[in-house]
Amino acid sequence: MRKRETVGSGWREAHFGRAPLVAIALAVVVLAARPAGTGDSPDCTDPQSGCSLAETAAQAGFWVGAAVGNAASHPSTQATIGGHFNSMTAENAMKWGPLARRVGEYDFGRADALVGLAEERAVRMRGHTLLWGRGPLPVDLESEVNQSPNPQARLRELLDQHIRTVVGRYAGRVQSWDVVNEPLSVAGAAFDYNLFFRTLGESYIAEAFRIAHEADPGAQLFLNEFFFVYSGSPKSQAFLALVEKLVAEGVPMHGVGVQAHFWDYLPIALPSREEFQNFLQALADLGLAVELTELDISRHYFDQGPDPLLRQAEFYSEITSACVAVPACQGITTWGIDDPGTWLDVTAPFDQVAPHEPLLFDAELQPKPAYFSMRDAVAERIIPFTARALLRLFDESVKTGALEGAGPPGSAVAKLRSLRSSLEKTVKYIDSDRVSGACRELERTARRLDTDGSSRAFATGPAARDLEEAIRELRGLLACDS
Ligand code: G3I
Repeated sequence: MRKRETVGSGWREAHFGRAPLVAIALAVVVLAARPAGTGDSPDCTDPQSGCSLAETAAQAGFWVGAAVGNAASHPSTQATIGGHFNSMTAENAMKWGPLARRVGEYDFGRADALVGLAEERAVRMRGHTLLWGRGPLPVDLESEVNQSPNPQARLRELLDQHIRTVVGRYAGRVQSWDVVNEPLSVAGAAFDYNLFFRTLGESYIAEAFRIAHEADPGAQLFLNEFFFVYSGSPKSQAFLALVEKLVAEGVPMHGVGVQAHFWDYLPIALPSREEFQNFLQALADLGLAVELTELDISRHYFDQGPDPLLRQAEFYSEITSACVAVPACQGITTWGIDDPGTWLDVTAPFDQVAPHEPLLFDAELQPKPAYFSMRDAVAERIIPFTARALLRLFDESVKTGALEGAGPPGSAVAKLRSLRSSLEKTVKYIDSDRVSGACRELERTARRLDTDGSSRAFATGPAARDLEEAIRELRGLLACDS
């Protein structure tokens, strides 16, 4: 059995090598919300189970979403909502300009239709976005503010009216909001010099969150931003500092959205999985939920290689595994459903190298390799089935001889039987939400494996170490020792 290198790498290689045993043993599990599945639902950690992305996400207590545009790019694009995605985001319909061509003159038709679709398909609805300084705004907003004798007061009044009108309308129907989008400048550490910042300074950000929280106390409120470089860049450092400051001020901000666009337009290399994961962890360490809110990965990064779509799938897997490995990273939304619908192909300057084919479904609305690699990476977050997978790993290891009972034949069989019994109890405890019992059984099993060669070891063989490592990981992430 291969020794594990870094989080998730075993999983990815194993998955592409289709060696499910090691993959499942190395699965990173997180104490997530109880999975929707019960004992009779398919085991979505088994790559052969044929689970959809949405089924896998439901068992993992994880969100997988897609941005839904005003016009569906394929006649049945929206049919994927619910079957493949358990969350959706309004790509444009809920921005201030599309909602109100002129200040105060709202047309909620398209936004209502999207919220209705989410409710019809029983998926989570993400509202995007209440304030975006560089985004589409009412045509008369700037003049309304600048012609007022008191621009600050006028803008505060208009922001308050807008946020209460929109969040209030969808209270209880839109579960999370990108309250402020892209507060920083495109490439630097400075605040974006937009109308809001020019008029009110950075205080507009905290004020927007406070108003939104008053309008719907039940909604999860996010600050959303994109980055070219994730570790150590002026912008990523400035964002961490901004978030830390807002948290310290007690602003009702519940999460941060990392857009995760990978455009392949500027000569910037893709981040390593470790760099990306460390950035997500740094945000999570501030006590917030984290989501990848606009993921798309241009196929152009991989055009030089033998199989661009497979390499694209591998990078989707790396990005997803990085999120799954950070307990507070609760969901991923792709910025569109099928390749023809991507904003990249119709937006300058990215349209110069269209088609980008950056999404999970192709032009015929067929799932691409990236769909399956993302699904398998999400499966790394499923606990009860991962406990069952440990049992499968144990049985397969005994069958293949990779795990043998220690000591003379008679006692060796009994020892293996005892190890297996503990793993069976672990599965039962987790399935019935009795985490402390599961921890106790896992501790007992780990003690008996004890691969450092102590005389008490119950088992020998190359699988013993993998089993011990996977048990340690499951114990750690079940928070057994806290
Ligand atoms: O609806 C009008 C249509 O009536 C008109 O004929 C047409 C001609 O210009 O424009 C249409 O509006 C376009 C709209 O998308 C709907 O297709 C706007 O011009 C166009 O600017 C707008 O682009 C959107 C962009 O945000 C700006 O709002 C993209 O679809 C959308 O994918 C993109 O998404 C943003 C996120 O909100 C924030 N993060 C970055 C991301 C990419 O820019």
